[in-house]
Amino acid sequence: MVLIDTHVHLEDEAFASDRDEILQRAEETGIKTLINAGSAVEANRKILQLIRQAPNMYGSIGLHPHEFPNTSEPAFTDMREQLCQEKIVALGEIGLDYHVFPDYPPPDQKAQQKAFCKQLEMAKLFELPIIVHVREAYEDALHWLKQYGPYTNGGVMHCYAGGEEHLATVLDMGFYTGIGGPVTYPKAEAMREVVRIVPSDRLLLETDAPYLPPQFRRGKRNEPAYLKAVAEACAVLRNVSLETLAEQTSANARCLFKLEEKHPGTFVYDIQGYLYINLTNRCSADCTFCPRRIRRQVQQYELSLSREPLAEELIAGIGDPAKYREVVFCGFGEPILRLPTLLQVAKAVKSRGGRVRVDTNGHADIIFSRDILPECQGLVDEWSVSLNSADPEQYTRLVRPRSNTNVHAVVVEFISRAVKMGFPVTVTAVKLSEVNTQAVQKLAESLGARYRGRLHQRLGEPE
Ligand code: NI
Repeated sequence: MVLIDTHVHLEDEAFASDRDEILQRAEETGIKTLINAGSAVEANRKILQLIRQAPNMYGSIGLHPHEFPNTSEPAFTDMREQLCQEKIVALGEIGLDYHVFPDYPPPDQKAQQKAFCKQLEMAKLFELPIIVHVREAYEDALHWLKQYGPYTNGGVMHCYAGGEEHLATVLDMGFYTGIGGPVTYPKAEAMREVVRIVPSDRLLLETDAPYLPPQFRRGKRNEPAYLKAVAEACAVLRNVSLETLAEQTSANARCLFKLEEKHPGTFVYDIQGYLYINLTNRCSADCTFCPRRIRRQVQQYELSLSREPLAEELIAGIGDPAKYREVVFCGFGEPILRLPTLLQVAKAVKSRGGRVRVDTNGHADIIFSRDILPECQGLVDEWSVSLNSADPEQYTRLVRPRSNTNVHAVVVEFISRAVKMGFPVTVTAVKLSEVNTQAVQKLAESLGARYRGRLHQRLGEPE
């Protein structure tokens, strides 16, 4: 039996002295994979360290509503860098918490909402699933979730306590319900009713350790091994065997967070002497003409990823890069969303005599809120930037960037800066009948870049 704990806080001080034993106990109980949810600046930082050390642990990065109003702008900038790190599979936990604690000032609802919305925007830009924390604030939380939806990569209502009343809305938004220790509490009948009726493909198990232990450990520290008690309670409520429940919920977790251990999919493939690297299926844009909207296939290669490949897998998969004309980072998505991995692999390629090209939408400044070009020097030999239109308004209509900034201007600025820094840059446009490709060519050349028109839906073959 394999269980996945989709929400733990193992970076917490509560585990400082016995973290390894805790992980060992979890493993022995069948908890093979864990997702460590982010909550605060310091926690997010620790999580990145933890997931580097523990192979079966993945992370999520986010700022919990309790962190507001006392968390400032730089924390959001840091988040952008952290969200691009390896094994970060979600954004969260984020949300609203209006619970009033005695001896504490009342929650600042406006500050929480502002931070929640900001992070919802970020989740859309990075196309990551979200982990949502809501306490005594379901009306407002669902209001804002609807405002910023739809969420193409879904999410989970962590420790779902919205009852039957809000379940339909949650399911209609494509979200999962996260169920933990409270399902075993005598007073949690509403939560048990949710567990009875929720579709089997929308149920996730979580401990929220060190918080919310099951009834038999109440008042004490929770730990991932107690996920089994949660699973048993849910199996009884749903009238299925523990094995069936474990299988269903683990499949759900793998699907939402893209955790497939064995078959990540095709991440390295060669076409006519070029080696392509499929880094991610996520993108900061949603082009109306994007081939991935129709099918995730290039030539004979199916490019859906059930897990994003790690740098070490990519380097092994590339083999001898000098055998190829170029190693091209493209993704069936935006490779810059995985910049640290991209640069690590590019470094290995360069050190073995390979040549590196990066195909990008040029959104780096929006993704990171800073200039990434200096760190790419010496590692990226050429940029290929898809601009697709010389007209900002048409660009927005066709490319549909997941950001409200004037993205066209940002891309033009990225191209111009790259040229000035000495990078060879090719500007591309898909030849659509409504696009004035001559104007794109003129703009590219005025920036000092080359221009290449691309035939619509013609992928991986010379034009
Ligand atoms: Ni939590």
